Amino acid sequence: MKGIILAGGLGKRLRPLTHAGPKQLIPIANKPVIHYAIEDLVASGVIEIGIIVGYSAERINAIKDACGDGSKWNTKITYIEQDAPRGLAHAVWTARDFLGQDSFVMYLGDNIISGGIGKFVKEFFASDADASLLLAKSRTPERFGVAEIKDNNIVSVEEKPVKPKSDTVIVGVYIFRPSIMRQIEVLSPSARNELEITHAIQGLLSSGRKVLHHTISGWWDDAGTGEDVLHANEMILSALKPYNAGTVEEGASIHGAVEIGKGTVVRKGAKIIGPVKIGDNCTIANASIGPYTSIGDLSEIISGTVESSILMSGCLIDIGAKKISGSLLGKNSKIRNGDTMRLMIGEDSDISV
Ligand code: TTP
Repeated sequence: MKGIILAGGLGKRLRPLTHAGPKQLIPIANKPVIHYAIEDLVASGVIEIGIIVGYSAERINAIKDACGDGSKWNTKITYIEQDAPRGLAHAVWTARDFLGQDSFVMYLGDNIISGGIGKFVKEFFASDADASLLLAKSRTPERFGVAEIKDNNIVSVEEKPVKPKSDTVIVGVYIFRPSIMRQIEVLSPSARNELEITHAIQGLLSSGRKVLHHTISGWWDDAGTGEDVLHANEMILSALKPYNAGTVEEGASIHGAVEIGKGTVVRKGAKIIGPVKIGDNCTIANASIGPYTSIGDLSEIISGTVESSILMSGCLIDIGAKKISGSLLGKNSKIRNGDTMRLMIGEDSDISV
């Protein structure tokens, strides 16, 4: 069984962060989102993974640098270039030579599924179905592919319907037999000019093929918006175990699950309320951190409060009595106190002061 991870797309909803790099590399609890997908595929028995990448050498190399040849996970990773973001079904089609005649798991590279996909994969391979979909209930089904189910069978699927027929949505992991390629081959671009995987699945259903489904028991997150990314961070941190590889000075206070990386110093006067994950070689000085906060390597928090946020590596925060909450800060962001704001911010930034 092979796996493909879709790591193309433009990530428009996560701008300006995605001007700097692909969304699949945004760290959730200090780990790139795409690493969760790789780990999940390997744990479910996938032995070879194709990662769909594209559109610029910079984006492609960033993903290659972060995932390498797969040996770190005892798997083999092949990179497959998509020429433009022409849709999920187009990404699958691009991988057709890699997939050959194998059945495969398709994993969206911005999804995190709690509890893994092992059972879902096992059920499929014990069946003769042509596909299987992972499903969940959603309060906003219009944002997703929606499945209509009758007598426990999927009878139709629709992509982002204005009037959803149910609140059951398709989570970003699918399993297919090679027969899906015949459905993709005959697709035409949708109204948003993409080849939709839901249309290919509808093709299977319309020609009488069996499409199984498996409802997920835990939480899942599609890290498509800033809110989704912070939610995923919160959920992953909720299961954090305390661990200290750094130095906590006397007079610093630590409560709850806090992970401190090597070379990191938590100075006297600092207060950390878990769950909080702090990377390597950081300094936490006269500041309050947490809960639900991840801080990337080489960051310095000199003063201020940081809660429910993600700070990527190399950030500097020195904001006196002020608080940062519900925020996503890109690599090397610097926020300092002062009466005058000195800003250097990218397109589509969103700032409240
Ligand atoms: P989406 O979130 O649907 O699309 P996007 O990444 O372009 O985001 P936005 O709507 O904010 O612009 O994509 C789901 C996943 O599939 C994501 O990991 C990107 C990937 N993808 C591809 O690999 N190729 C594609 O052609 C598309 C559309 C998405």
